[in-house]
Amino acid sequence: MFSVAIDGPAGAGKSTLAKAAAAKLGFIYIDTGALYRTVTYAVKAGGVDIEDESAFKRLLASIKIELEFIDGVQHVFLNGKDVSELIRTPEISASVSIVSAVPMCREFFLDFQRSLADKYNAIMDGRDIGTVVLPNAQVKIFLTASPEVRADRRYKELLEKGHEVTYEEVLDSVIKRDDRDSNRETAPLKPADDAVLLDTSNLNFEESLEEIIKLIRG
Ligand code: DC
Repeated sequence: MFSVAIDGPAGAGKSTLAKAAAAKLGFIYIDTGALYRTVTYAVKAGGVDIEDESAFKRLLASIKIELEFIDGVQHVFLNGKDVSELIRTPEISASVSIVSAVPMCREFFLDFQRSLADKYNAIMDGRDIGTVVLPNAQVKIFLTASPEVRADRRYKELLEKGHEVTYEEVLDSVIKRDDRDSNRETAPLKPADDAVLLDTSNLNFEESLEEIIKLIRG
């Protein structure tokens, strides 16, 4: 199967661009952040203290997380319930980088992500896809943009969904998350040695998409 790994910090446009590129190329788009968000949702719903290793282990053993692709759109299910929207709140975004830094949590999804790449021609987006999950991906792209541009995009997205947030709060959250994602010990956010860096700070959506398609077709 053909795999494209797109990694990069929060708000770089990975999901919108990967989704559009996948639709154009007839690939499946896999959003791996949704997996970590779903565990975070389960941690919060269950009132689990993730510092308590055995409690976290019990939680992981007790939950079932599944992905379904409906009309090319990924839906994530936690114990049979579609939580695709519930995992996209500012509260989950604020905690997900803490939960996803736990090695046990990363291990939990490793084979699952690889099995999806075995099954489908896929564009997979995340933080460690090119470095850890799919080191043999045919194309690796590290997508980035300045923190201000990324926060502005996230802020507009959240407003559209009706969340009450300020730009400053979103910027602060984006910076904190990048810092935690980049500095964790296990599978930190960083470009793979063979990744192509694409900075979208000064590119609009169409221009960014064109670049990505070019890289994949190339
Ligand atoms: O892409 P996103 O914002 O939905 O990701 C949510 C969090 O999950 C992000 O802070 C880092 C983590 N993540 C990760 O550690 N590894 C991945 N492959 C994808 C996401």
